[in-house]
Order: sequence, then C-alpha cells, then structure tokens
Amino acid sequence: MSGFLRRVTPGAVLIVIVAAAGPAVAQSPVPPGVAGLLTSIKKADAGQLSVSEEDGRFMRVLVASHGIKRALEIGGANGYSAIWIGLGLRETGGHLTTIEFDDGRAKSAADNVRRAGLTDVVTVLHGDAFREIPKLDGSFDFVFLDAWKPDYKRFFDLVFPRVTPRGLFLAHNVVNKETEMRDFLSAIQDGPAIATSIVRPGSEGMSVSVKLR
Ligand SMILES: C[S@@+](CC[C@H](N)C(=O)[O-])C[C@H]1O[C@@H](n2cnc3c(N)ncnc32)[C@H](O)[C@@H]1O
Repeated sequence: MSGFLRRVTPGAVLIVIVAAAGPAVAQSPVPPGVAGLLTSIKKADAGQLSVSEEDGRFMRVLVASHGIKRALEIGGANGYSAIWIGLGLRETGGHLTTIEFDDGRAKSAADNVRRAGLTDVVTVLHGDAFREIPKLDGSFDFVFLDAWKPDYKRFFDLVFPRVTPRGLFLAHNVVNKETEMRDFLSAIQDGPAIATSIVRPGSEGMSVSVKLR
C-alpha cells in the first residue's frame, strides 16, 4: 500500500470499501492534543448537538480533497464540527466562518477552536446567521448547514446563490430529521444546476450537493 500511496497526487481521493464489520478500522491521525479535545467536547455535549465523529472525518476529507478555501458553517454549537472542517482547511490554506446563535455555545466554540490551535483557520461569529450572513463578503466554496431543521430551505435560498460553481453545500440530519425539511430536500434533489447525494458516514445522514454552474 505505501508504494501505491506515493503515486497518489496531493488532494486525490482514495476510497476503500470495508466489506464486513469487524474490529475497529484504523482511522487517519488527528494532531496530538486535538483528538483528546474532540473526545472531551463530545463527552460534555449533553444535548448531543455535535455531528458524529464519522461525519467530522468525512468533512475533513471533503475539504482537504477539494482544496476548499472559503467555508461557512451555519450552526456551530460548541465547535466540534468546526474543528474537523478546520483540520481539512489547515491542509488547503482555507478559512471557515462558523455562526452560532447561543451566547454560551459561541463562547465555548471559540475556546475550543483556540485549544485546537485553529484560531488562524476558524472564526466563530456569535449571532443569528440570517442576520450575519448578509454582512459577510464574497462567495463560499463549502457550506455546512446544521441549524434548526425547519429553517434549512430559507438558509439554502439565502446562501446557495453565493456558492461558487462546483462548490459544495452540505446539510446534516437529512435522514433522521427528513420530515422537518421536506421543502429543502425537494430543492436540492429536484432543483436545476445542482446534483445531490445523500450519504451516511454516521446515522443521521448528510446531503452533499454540488453547484453545477
Ligand atoms: C445541531 S447544533 C450544531 C452542531 C455543530 N454543527 C457540531 O457538529 O458541533 C445546531 C446549532 O445551531 C444553532 N442555531 C440554530 N439556528 C441558528 C441561527 N439562525 N443562527 C445561528 N445559529 C443557529 C443552535 O443554537 C445550535 O447550537
């Protein structure tokens, strides 16, 4: 495998399908200190707001493999997913703005980002994303939507026009909370100039949409 890996270009995607459930599969390493921090955020997350570890790993891979430069997260909570996205952006030289409505969670996210050594990569904005997004300049090549589910369609309408061609728009809980976002799911599955796949790195399901033009 190591000889083969030397011939894979930086940013290439290597897909390995594990056919049978067995002993835990070794995963790509997380920088020293950050792994323990991620575990402690999860342990303290009584409301189970954070994405699963597998969802986090998946986003890190997507960000690094697509050379993402300008990322936006809507619904940052305590910073768990922002740290995984930030680890991908550390590879690409990109930047994430994550927006969190709740004061205590926004402070906790900023603290966790600092502890992860990612303050140069991730900016935590405290506020209502419906008000904060219009104040941000420019376009996004990666958006991760993880706020209140009935708001997904409104966020999609607000942000998708600002996604670059071939940019990615991801949304969380599209399987376990499908009934709360049917209008959003129709928009990403039936809309023009968008292609969508629903994946399940964890059990909640994520939509991954690409803006075609
Ligand atoms: C499921 S949690 C996000 C979890 C986070 N993405 C993670 O994996 O670590 C949803 C968060 O969205 C926030 N939220 C909901 N509506 C929002 C809005 N309009 N603007 C900003 N944050 C919002 C909530 O306060 C909550 O903390």
